[in-house]
Amino acid sequence: MIRRRPRLQLTDQEREMMRNAGRFNAKLMDHLRPFVCAGTVTEDIDRIVHAYTLDHGHIPACLGYRGDVKPFPKSCCISVNDVICHGIPGHYELQPGDIVNVDITSIVDGWHGDQSETFLIGDVSEEARAITQCSFDSLFLAINAIRPECSVAVIGETIVDYVKKKHPSFGVVDRYVGHGIGIRFHQRPNIPHVPTRQSYQERLLPGMCFTIEPMINAGTVHSKCDAADGWTVRTADGKFSAQFEHTILMLEDGLEVLTLTKDGPQPGHRF
Ligand code: MF3
Ligand code: CO
Ligand code: CO
Repeated sequence: MIRRRPRLQLTDQEREMMRNAGRFNAKLMDHLRPFVCAGTVTEDIDRIVHAYTLDHGHIPACLGYRGDVKPFPKSCCISVNDVICHGIPGHYELQPGDIVNVDITSIVDGWHGDQSETFLIGDVSEEARAITQCSFDSLFLAINAIRPECSVAVIGETIVDYVKKKHPSFGVVDRYVGHGIGIRFHQRPNIPHVPTRQSYQERLLPGMCFTIEPMINAGTVHSKCDAADGWTVRTADGKFSAQFEHTILMLEDGLEVLTLTKDGPQPGHRF
């Protein structure tokens, strides 16, 4: 199969397609929000994602993703407590004290919208609340720091500077990264949340779409991927991890966050 490299700088019409995909994905997040509470089984959230997406004529991008390795079996990722990312919805029932990330990606008329939020279930530990706040704040600090034509490394620099200063014991995950997005779910450029050599060489150009999705760990940044299911990524020390994600469109004179929700935490929110 011949795959053409997607053009990274979108035309005005293509930008509209991405806006539309982001808008739908955010509406889906607002739709599932009330169900993310104690007593809900994670598979039920997945069913809601699947049904709502299909009812609107769209496709859940996670379902069957990477069919050539081990296809992801569900329509969204649900990552509880020590799961950093790529948790598979299943029989687990959410309970007070949990922090749970729901990561949803929709394909709308061929274009992808991708975002995630971490939800606090009932009263959670101070540490769990602090990493959730830290991940949320670091995402918006990075969004506010980037400018058209700036280097991708501004994102990693901003996040690491903030976390190091505010919570020296927390870690920024470097193994899993944000990504370019468009007609492909994952494409160039990589968007690491720590500065890397490659990220200094890459620039955020007008018309580019990409995600920022910092994963912050309460302890070590080291992780292990579940050998049995091939997907679930957990912290090596069993401590909590939190993540937020938005899809961003860089413009000639600023940027747009394509996946802002109506009912979710707004910039400046205190958890
Ligand atoms: N939504 C994730 C991201 O932010 C990717 C999930 S891939 C899946 O990039 F196959 F696990 F769904
Ligand atoms: Co995602
Ligand atoms: Co993503």
